Amino acid sequence: MRPHHFVVPLILSLVLLRRTVTSRCPQLDRMRHSGDNPTSMARATQNPIQAVRGMNDILPSDIGRWRWLEGTFRTAFERAGFHEVRTPIVEPTNLFVRAVGETTDVVEKEMYAFERHDEGLTIRPEGTAGAARAYIEHSIYAKEPISRWYYIGPMFRGERPAKGRYRQFYQAGAEIFGDHGPGCDAELIDLLHGVLTALGLVNVDVIINSLGGAETRARFKEELVKYLEPHRERLSTDSQRRLASNPLRILDSKAPQDREISAGAPTLHEFLTAEDQAHFNELRQMLDRLGTPYRVDPHLVRGLDYYTRTLFEVKAAADKLGAGDTVLGGGRYDGLVEDLGGPKTPAIGFAAGLERLLIATESNQASDPLDVYIAALGNAAQREGLVLARDLRAAGFSCEVDTRGTSIKSQLRRSEGLAARAAIILGDAELAEKVYAVKNLAAHTQSKVAAVDVVAHLSQTLRAAT
Ligand code: HAM
Repeated sequence: MRPHHFVVPLILSLVLLRRTVTSRCPQLDRMRHSGDNPTSMARATQNPIQAVRGMNDILPSDIGRWRWLEGTFRTAFERAGFHEVRTPIVEPTNLFVRAVGETTDVVEKEMYAFERHDEGLTIRPEGTAGAARAYIEHSIYAKEPISRWYYIGPMFRGERPAKGRYRQFYQAGAEIFGDHGPGCDAELIDLLHGVLTALGLVNVDVIINSLGGAETRARFKEELVKYLEPHRERLSTDSQRRLASNPLRILDSKAPQDREISAGAPTLHEFLTAEDQAHFNELRQMLDRLGTPYRVDPHLVRGLDYYTRTLFEVKAAADKLGAGDTVLGGGRYDGLVEDLGGPKTPAIGFAAGLERLLIATESNQASDPLDVYIAALGNAAQREGLVLARDLRAAGFSCEVDTRGTSIKSQLRRSEGLAARAAIILGDAELAEKVYAVKNLAAHTQSKVAAVDVVAHLSQTLRAAT
């Protein structure tokens, strides 16, 4: 074969490959043309790449608190018969437009929406829409009369970052499909109050309201527009636009002039039907019986359009969170499943912001300490240390073995840094005698233990201490 027989096809395929990459990733393409080659950029240590503003790293040093928080929610949910659901992070944009509402802030201003191969996609700003979609898509309504789901995961909103307000944030949320309440409404609110108390939060402010059903909303909307119309000129530009498209949203506006005008507006509460009123009264009686503290705020509205009837928010730790002190919010959305193409299904849910809860509970929880640290001096000690670490892990202990080959002083310093509960020292003398030095770092004691008895010894001393 002559050289050009394979050189020409090779060059052609390289050109084609480069074209494919180019057309798939316009951003990479721009970087190439501007001379900002990604490889050379990564090398430019004087200008390191940083995370996207409002999106945070959760480093190993913080993970203990995250697990503690997530674990508290998981335990509470599972004890109350909720099952975990995991839906995709990316959903069709239309789902959020239809579920959350076209004229909400979330849809109008905050969604990370993009086109890919003519498909409109959005990185989820919240979890309810995806849960309802999955509930319908898998015909769950035909399989069970009531579904209790929970989720823990990241959500994305292009908001202006501030303390407690991020562009990627985590929510723990739950949704109940198939129960029109008010029993499950009261149960959910009480459950949340219990979780927040278990997290050590005091002065938890639970605020409830009822938005009524579709009939109430329609009558209220008319009256609200009548009230707002004379103030039109003074309203913010957004609210002027919403006067025609979605006047209820004006009550949720943060603009000071809108707030001032809204303060005098009629409240939805005055328009509740007898049925809505009975639902709300029963909810209150149940909360009273449970002893769950709450207050009614007839002005409470929330930024998402799917809510009907019961609505609630919880505020806590205003001293630490400032204006963003709403740690969780939720409510009933009896029309959503039907609006998304499923059968008429009552539903209620909530979501809590995990970053906000971590700020609110700042000093409440340390991360899990390591059980055993093995300090090994020399290669022979490292070999035995590796075997011992494996045995200890198999016995259920967390264990780290030092394989750096550094001095005993620096190895013990590391064990202190890790807040290890016990340290084992392995050197030539210990190996020769087959007797190891075991330090109980919490009790400040040290004992010599036969190598074969180390696991049993630690099982006794460490487990007895927990
Ligand atoms: P939401 O009120 O939009 O409701 O969000 C719930 C909670 O998520 C808020 O109370 C707050 O703690 C947290 N959160 C919201 N946005 C941010 C942000 N940018 N940064 C940090 N934390 C944030 C929902 O998402 C509904 N899906 C809740 C629901 C479930 N309703 C019925 N079912």
